[in-house]
Amino acid sequence: MTIVIFGGGGDLTHRKLLPALYNLHVDGLLPPQMAIVGVGRKPMTDEAYRDFAKDGVTRFSRRPIDEGAWQSFAAFVFFAAAEIDAEQGLASLGARLDIIEHEHHLAGDRIYYMALPPSLFGPTVKQLDRARLVNRSGSHSARIIVEKPIGRDIESACAINDAIAKVFDEPQIYRIDHYLGKETVQNILVLRFANSIFEPLFNQKYVDHVQITVAEEEGVGTRAGYYEQAGALRDMVQNHMLQLLALVAMEPPHSLDADVIRDEKLQVLKSLRPLDDAAIATNVVRAQYAGYRQEPGVDPASLTETFVALQVFVDNWRWSGVPFFLRTGKRLPQRTSEISVYLKDVPPILFNANPSARLDANVLTIRIQPDEGFSLGISSKRPGPHVDVAPVKMDFHYGAQFNGSSPEAYERLLLDVIAGDPTLFMRRDAVEAAWRWVMPVLDRWATQTAALPQYPAGAWGPAEADRLVESTGRKWRAL
Ligand SMILES: NC(=O)c1ccc[n+]([C@@H]2O[C@H](COP(=O)([O-])OP(=O)(O)OC[C@H]3O[C@@H](n4cnc5c(N)ncnc54)[C@H](OP(=O)(O)O)[C@@H]3O)[C@@H](O)[C@H]2O)c1
Repeated sequence: MTIVIFGGGGDLTHRKLLPALYNLHVDGLLPPQMAIVGVGRKPMTDEAYRDFAKDGVTRFSRRPIDEGAWQSFAAFVFFAAAEIDAEQGLASLGARLDIIEHEHHLAGDRIYYMALPPSLFGPTVKQLDRARLVNRSGSHSARIIVEKPIGRDIESACAINDAIAKVFDEPQIYRIDHYLGKETVQNILVLRFANSIFEPLFNQKYVDHVQITVAEEEGVGTRAGYYEQAGALRDMVQNHMLQLLALVAMEPPHSLDADVIRDEKLQVLKSLRPLDDAAIATNVVRAQYAGYRQEPGVDPASLTETFVALQVFVDNWRWSGVPFFLRTGKRLPQRTSEISVYLKDVPPILFNANPSARLDANVLTIRIQPDEGFSLGISSKRPGPHVDVAPVKMDFHYGAQFNGSSPEAYERLLLDVIAGDPTLFMRRDAVEAAWRWVMPVLDRWATQTAALPQYPAGAWGPAEADRLVESTGRKWRAL
């Protein structure tokens, strides 16, 4: 296997991909013979590229670097220069790959990783084809990994997908949503379908509502160039949050086959209640953190949202009438991602008879980051002579239960591409269904020119977000 990383000198490669590949090597999970080839525009020696990789591993690996393991890893890391824009831009890359594969007795199976700005996905794929570097079928496999964002609206997403589909068949295409590689996200299906306690409750009979929070503590930082074009809805909701929602809401798949699972997730996306103008006005809140417009690289008149909250409905039999509240933003009080499933209240009798002291509802919380795990809030009697009911938590922490650090999402995802398992990757139809659903919001926002509501840095969004939930008689979970 040869992994060819376009954007081999970029930030993603430095911080995530090379450290992930190094950890897979330390765990003995990479194929015994392989090569990793970083590709960039400026020529660089293999040695210089290994120094760049070592710096990334030293700074960002979940394990401290081990010199012996590093030396054996570095021996199969290479660099190749290529100009994607040039007429025969990848011809020399093909020759270099052939030499590396020949010298290292590799069969020529390749993974092309697009760690590039999305505007370059199409041109790069075209050049790969022109240089005859892609086998659709035959003796050598060729796979492509595409990073998010896949487009910035439905048209651009379809254009990227069309460009890739001219050269790669859908089973060869791995669209990364790194959230899906996180242990706790994978655990959602295990929690639901390997435990008889939860699944019977996951429906409108027992669930009052669901909350999904993806909160970042940081501001826009150095990524204003990207973020100004994106905003919270594109950056988080269209991909990660709708994927989480799909996992929580999907029907039981009849097998663990990748396409069976992905079919069920698609059904959820197709069941999302369409957002018309009236629904956008009442069910979607956007805002900017105070000071965003003064950040370096941000337009002083920017209308880009750094926070969005939504009330969403999945209009199918299982979830009829159950609100899903989604919120995400930058400069929130803490970096947290979690899903909370609120069960319905017990009847207002017996222990729940006092109208001024209602019992807390049972809540199943799936913590995705940090401190991965899940907890179940239940009511229990306080010890003593009186019947005094108090909320208590049954709590499971991954770190405490399964010793050691969990693999990073990129480790799992890269391993799955090597193994040819697309379960945790987004299929074209799902990406486009998610874009179709968010488009009315983006289109409506595009016509609006008023400054966005603001929220102070370190707050849980604007007052409008609280009203969105409180107007339904519920509250955001205190995190
Ligand atoms: N960074 C992250 O944490 C992160 C997270 C999620 C998704 N992503 C996605 O991953 C991809 C890569 O992100 P990144 O942060 O690594 O980006 P980056 O550092 O800005 O760029 C990656 C590489 O793209 C190449 N490049 C940029 N403009 C080019 C041009 N006009 N022609 C040819 N090559 C060009 C550069 O290669 P050379 O200059 O070396 O030739 C650069 O090293 C993007 O799609 C991004 O949205 C990144």
